[in-house]
Amino acid sequence: MILIFGSINMDLVARVSAIARPGETVLSPRAESFFGGKGANQAVAAARAVRDPSIGVAMAGAIGSDSFGPACLGNLRENGLDVTAIRTVSEPTGCAFITVDAGGENAITVASGANLAVRSQDLSDELLSKTTVLVLQMEVPLEESLAAATRARAFGIKVVWNLAPAPTDRDRHRIPEILAVTDVLVVNEHEAVATAALVSGKDEGDYQQAATQLAHGFGLACVVTAGSRGALALLPDGSRLHAPALPVTPTDTTGAGDTFVGVMAVGLAEGLDLTTAMEQACCAASLSCLKLGAQAGMPRREEIDRALAENAAPALG
Ligand code: RIB
Ligand code: NA
Repeated sequence: MILIFGSINMDLVARVSAIARPGETVLSPRAESFFGGKGANQAVAAARAVRDPSIGVAMAGAIGSDSFGPACLGNLRENGLDVTAIRTVSEPTGCAFITVDAGGENAITVASGANLAVRSQDLSDELLSKTTVLVLQMEVPLEESLAAATRARAFGIKVVWNLAPAPTDRDRHRIPEILAVTDVLVVNEHEAVATAALVSGKDEGDYQQAATQLAHGFGLACVVTAGSRGALALLPDGSRLHAPALPVTPTDTTGAGDTFVGVMAVGLAEGLDLTTAMEQACCAASLSCLKLGAQAGMPRREEIDRALAENAAPALG
């Protein structure tokens, strides 16, 4: 079982020609709602990418008793997820306000709501005993994620931690604890630099340097997603791995990082080496950018395999 412990949101998305600056108002033709939340996105990406049906995907999180809650839960069920560790609470369901510009870049504000009620005790020992990979992010209470990861390690579970959104100064004293219980850290370039700076107290500036420092200092694999440049991994012994992205023209990059994390977790649960898992994850993340909405463009297993095969053997002409 792959277990995702994290956030569930409803995303309200407006396309704009340029994202508003502070004090500015911009107009968009309409708002559209999409299922989102980093945890839920990663869970859906994983469920669609699983090859071996004996490896299930479960999500632990919280929804509100408003109308968004049951809709989000229904979406997770439809995607084949085990939702027994999702609780309904009195806070409103998490909601993300997203604007997407003409180049597919976004700006996001997350109103956490029910996500703040996620608890590590929602993970039963029975669920953990079936789990081989646990995936975490930074949109539910950090102490609860830490408690979940610490329990998971005692069960021999591999811990994949996506440090997104980037940790802030408030999280500083917790970073060493997070990294101590993490096997595979996944960050983007900005998150790599921000995390390393919180650890060392000085700004490395360069994400490769930051990733090297994190991998070496904490004995973990540090995977850095770098958009159209694919992904890079730094290992504790100083070695580097790379996986390319597909050449795509993005419509919406929201959820591309989540697609990467979910699909990479599947690769690790299915026993692939890290480079192969990253290649599949980069391919899936690229495909996910072709549609508006975090989950809409997330590919199924067959689509990932087809795109990888086409990319590996480009038609002669
Ligand atoms: O990573 C993208 C996600 O971040 C969105 O779906 C939004 O809900 C925010 O949590
Ligand atoms: Na998308």
